[in-house]
Amino acid sequence: MSARFLIEGGKPLVGLIHVRGSKNAALPILAATLLTNEHCRIKNLPLVNDVHAMLKILHDMGSKIAWIDKHSIEIENQDIDPRKLSRDIVKKMRASILLLGPLLARFGRVEKMRYPGGCSIGARPIDVHLDAFVDLGARVLRDKHFFSVFLEDCPSVSRTFVLSEFSVTATENLMIFLSALPFQNEIRIAASEPHVADLAKFLKKLGAIIEGAGTSTVQVKGCSKLKGATHIVAPDYIEAGTFLLMSLAVGGDMEIKNAPVSHLDLVIKKLVSSGAEVFADEKKQVLRVKSGGRIRLERIQTMPYPGMPTDLQSAFAVLASQTFGKTLIHEPMYERRLEFLKELARLGARVEILDPHRAYIYGPARLYGAEVSSLDLRSASALVVAGLAAKGATIIHGAEHAQRGYEDFDGRLRKLGANIKKIS
Ligand code: EPU
Repeated sequence: MSARFLIEGGKPLVGLIHVRGSKNAALPILAATLLTNEHCRIKNLPLVNDVHAMLKILHDMGSKIAWIDKHSIEIENQDIDPRKLSRDIVKKMRASILLLGPLLARFGRVEKMRYPGGCSIGARPIDVHLDAFVDLGARVLRDKHFFSVFLEDCPSVSRTFVLSEFSVTATENLMIFLSALPFQNEIRIAASEPHVADLAKFLKKLGAIIEGAGTSTVQVKGCSKLKGATHIVAPDYIEAGTFLLMSLAVGGDMEIKNAPVSHLDLVIKKLVSSGAEVFADEKKQVLRVKSGGRIRLERIQTMPYPGMPTDLQSAFAVLASQTFGKTLIHEPMYERRLEFLKELARLGARVEILDPHRAYIYGPARLYGAEVSSLDLRSASALVVAGLAAKGATIIHGAEHAQRGYEDFDGRLRKLGANIKKIS
């Protein structure tokens, strides 16, 4: 039976909360440690299930991993056996696809890998990843459950890769792979999310020369012998954004510390222009809001970075249910992420789903506790926000989804005065 959150809502949230390291930066960085035989130290890892799963995959293949403090590990990858890649974990986690680049760089082949699983938010193909390796001369074999990639000859000429989507993990996979090639290559239509830039920072410490990371054109000049490095994972802008939207939707006085404010430019701009009072200190990395203002969001359209993050769409939808007027939520990327609105409606939100990518939310609506189910990581955190804003008791099934991406979510919220606990 899945874990559940029990929330007694309607209480304001007051106090300090520290943003943890970015899950979506930590995962490719951990995978990229496979590029070197030397020791790496990775600090500020968020203690979330996806990170633990990635560490388990690495450990099963032979990585030697030691925790040096609560959020830091030392990892050494001299003896890696790719045949020990855990197929069960791979099929449960989308980010396992990030092992493709480093394993190909190291062994020239990846055999019978399961398709990556993860949150069911829509079709999540890997054609962009595979096409890039085909461009490099790889042979790809695929059937319904498995795929294999063979790179018989190591590439020896510079190339320009034009990706067919702004795919975060495809950009990361290619950047990792190219970091092991000792000549210049270019990736165009690269994803520019802050976690891609943080991965590039790590790869540079290993010895690659990378320019343009964080933009849509990235140049990578790798090195055939990469060295070890120490890296502090960047703070998670999605977690910071979740707390910011929570603070507005639930009310109270939260101070969000260690927040990568500049990564939330558009989110903050949107909130302020909608009437919210947001105090953002980029230098001190602090965010705070004054709750109770008259907010009118009108339209939230998700886009690749630096656009409105799809990973904050569900939390925005909760806020929309508490603000004034009609808000259009437009989610072009994933066709199943609006499913969560049906759960939000059970709590009393007034929702009209127009099609898989667009919905109207009419606010403000009084939310009342009810029994709901989370479908993925971000809907789980958004339902927690809704449960905290609702009057009475809410039970959220699928609490384990939140644990994939938010460290000790309920424990940290309790410190702000939230009445939330996990029940089995
Ligand atoms: N796409 C393709 N072909 C591909 C890859 C992607 O068509 O081969 C399409 C997808 O269908 C989707 C879009 O491109 O429409 C984005 O896919 P992308 O590959 O960028 O997504 P991802 O790499 O699987 C990462 C994050 C997600 C986040 C998205 C978008 C990681 C580990 N995951 O996913 O994070 O939603 O980028 O920003 O970095 C989350 O943290 O909750 C989460 C789902």
